[in-house]
Order: sequence, then C-alpha cells, then structure tokens
Amino acid sequence: MILLSPSILAADFACLGDYMRQADAAGTDLFHVDVMDGMFVPNISFGIPIMESVQKITHTPLDVHLMIVQPRRYIREFARAGASIITIHYEACEDLNAAAALIHECGCKAGLSIKPGTDTSVLEQYLDEYDMFLIMTVEPGFGGQKYMNKCTRKISDLRKMLDEHGLDTDIEVDGGITRENIGMVLEAGANVIVTGSAVFKGDIQDNVRYFKNYFAEYENK
Ligand code: DX5
Ligand code: ZN
Repeated sequence: MILLSPSILAADFACLGDYMRQADAAGTDLFHVDVMDGMFVPNISFGIPIMESVQKITHTPLDVHLMIVQPRRYIREFARAGASIITIHYEACEDLNAAAALIHECGCKAGLSIKPGTDTSVLEQYLDEYDMFLIMTVEPGFGGQKYMNKCTRKISDLRKMLDEHGLDTDIEVDGGITRENIGMVLEAGANVIVTGSAVFKGDIQDNVRYFKNYFAEYENK
C-alpha cells in the first residue's frame, strides 16, 4: 500500500490546525512530524507540546521523524504525545535493538532512517527489528531542498535486500519529493512518501488529491 505523509514542517505554524484540516479533508494517510534538536541537524523545529496539540485535532496517524541525538531518551514521551510511528536515525543512536524494542513496548511502529551518505548495507542487521526504513533523499535539517538523485539507487538496493529476505517492509522516502519525481521514487520501491513543500506550499487539497490519485493509478497499473 502506498501512503502519503505530508510534513507539517512545511506548514505555516500560525495556521497549523487549518493546514492539517485541509490535508485531512483531501484524505491524507499520515502526517509526518519532523523533530529537530539543533544537534543532530543544524536546525531546531518543535517538540512535544506541538505534538500534544496536533494529536487533538486529527485522527490521522502521526509519523514522527526524530532527528535528535540519543533518541531513546524521548521515545516514551513522543509515544504518550500521540505518535503512531517513531523513526530514529541510525547515525544518532548507539543501541538500535533496544530502541526498536522500546518503541514497540510503547505501542508504536518502529522506523530506522539513514542519511544520504550512509550506506544501505548497514540496515541489513536490523531488518527483523524495524517495521519501516526511511531513506533520506536530502541532508536532514531543512524542508524545501532538492531531491538527491544518487539516493534513488539506495531505495532500489533496499527493496532488493528486503525481497531477498522475504520481507515486505515499508520503505519511506523523505526530502525533495515532487509531482515530477514521484514516479521514479515509486518505481525504485518506496511506498511511504513524505511531501513537505509539494503539499503545504500551494493548494493543499489539490496537492493531496494529486498524490493520492497518482498512487491509486500506480497501484492499479
Ligand atoms: C528534512 C525533513 C523532511 C522535509 C521534507 O530534514 O526530514 O521531512 O521537511 O520537506 P520537503 O518535501 O519540502 O523536502
Ligand atoms: Zn522528515
């Protein structure tokens, strides 16, 4: 199943509730919540108080992307604040097995992400521990960047690795996804699609419907 996960980082925070209601009205599958600590990435976004507000205005599952150092410190709090999926970074956490176990203990799905410079092969030993793998297609830290073409190969390599292990695990892609490159990303094997600017800059409902229709047509091909 192909799912759309618009990143609220690209919304106007003064109107966040309205932006989210529009995406919900057009049938988004998830909301992507980018948490940045100014340490793991050179930017600070928002944290638990925003999550607590956001979870009150939507029933759509919250797909939380933790770009923070030592993410195990905060897993329980993000789960309590309404996360359905919690994704942490390979580069930011020492004990990835313990982190996956803690995310599951909190009742969430566990995701593991790699930055553009990290090789896909590092994920192989965690294939059984995580429910989703996130391939970053920009350097994490900022919305509105350009998709890095060299990352397409990493998506197809990971899909091949999962196939070889008989796994149908979700592959999420995040960074610079547009109407122009969505076909290529799906073709490479991704099925959870983060879109910040491509949904929240412009006509939100039209953008969500465009991607959802695209996915439906792709799946019926
Ligand atoms: C980057 C974030 C992304 C980003 C996506 O660090 O993880 O989720 O906000 O935004 P766009 O789609 O604008 O690249
Ligand atoms: Zn993200």
